[in-house]
Amino acid sequence: MPDELLAIHGLNAGTEEKPILHDIDLTLGTGETHVLMGPNGAGKSTLGRVIMGDPAYQVSSGTIAFDGRDITQESSDKRSLAGVFLSYQAPVEIPGVPLNSFLRTIVQKRPELKMTGREFRRRLKEVASQLDFDSSYLSRELNVGFSGGEKKKVEMMQLLLLKPKLAILDETDSGLDVDALSVVSRGMEAYRAECDGTLLIITHNTRILERLDVDRCHVMVKGHLVAEGDSSLVGEIDREGFGRFETAEAELAGEEA
Ligand SMILES: Nc1ncnc2c1ncn2[C@@H]1O[C@H](COP(=O)(O)OP(=O)(O)OP(=O)(O)O)[C@@H](O)[C@H]1O
Ligand SMILES: [Mg+2]
Repeated sequence: MPDELLAIHGLNAGTEEKPILHDIDLTLGTGETHVLMGPNGAGKSTLGRVIMGDPAYQVSSGTIAFDGRDITQESSDKRSLAGVFLSYQAPVEIPGVPLNSFLRTIVQKRPELKMTGREFRRRLKEVASQLDFDSSYLSRELNVGFSGGEKKKVEMMQLLLLKPKLAILDETDSGLDVDALSVVSRGMEAYRAECDGTLLIITHNTRILERLDVDRCHVMVKGHLVAEGDSSLVGEIDREGFGRFETAEAELAGEEA
């Protein structure tokens, strides 16, 4: 049994106006690959952002422990330095910041990744080529004018450079063509193999999972985690959709009311 890396207990969270997540219990072990699935608007991205400490959301009760430490009240920069990584469903464009300077800065912020300028450039080239990313783009402004697929590859470059303990990938596969999908999937595989990192993959596209050994699959409906199972659950959802989980959520909500 691997060590617990992330342990969420009784988490209720949302915006000031709207409760979104209800009584979430979720445990991820070191080196495991978990998948989070659920219909649109279920709260999957919100859970990723709450784990990352996005100030747009408040935790009304419950705890989030990471690597044996309670991080429920910690700022997102501290969580990031501790080894939590979130790749955004819709990465932001930052004019005026060249991509290579941004990547150099985030690596320099982590003392455990100490690299000389030359080592960094070598590693960056290696990662760009691993992801079939045109290295002439490295001097462009961060994500500005990048296609959807290119933005997702930038997220994967950050993952492979930073080697976080926990990577939450929020629909990193969406908008990718078949070739890019296989590149990103190889990136996830490389992260697992090189870093023994823990993955929480939020996706609607089960094809991205084909190269990975999925340990657990979780299903979220209307802010509740209503089911958990092994990788066979991914196949079941692919074939049959979320119908039976929506029924389970309706029963759960009925009991709570
Ligand atoms: N900052 C916010 N302000 C108001 N409502 C929000 C905010 N963030 C999320 N919500 C609402 O919370 C619900 C869950 O949204 P979330 O983005 O987490 O869903 P999701 O499961 O990621 O869906 P999708 O599969 O479409 O990406 C939605 O109804 C959404 O409109
Ligand atoms: Mg989402």
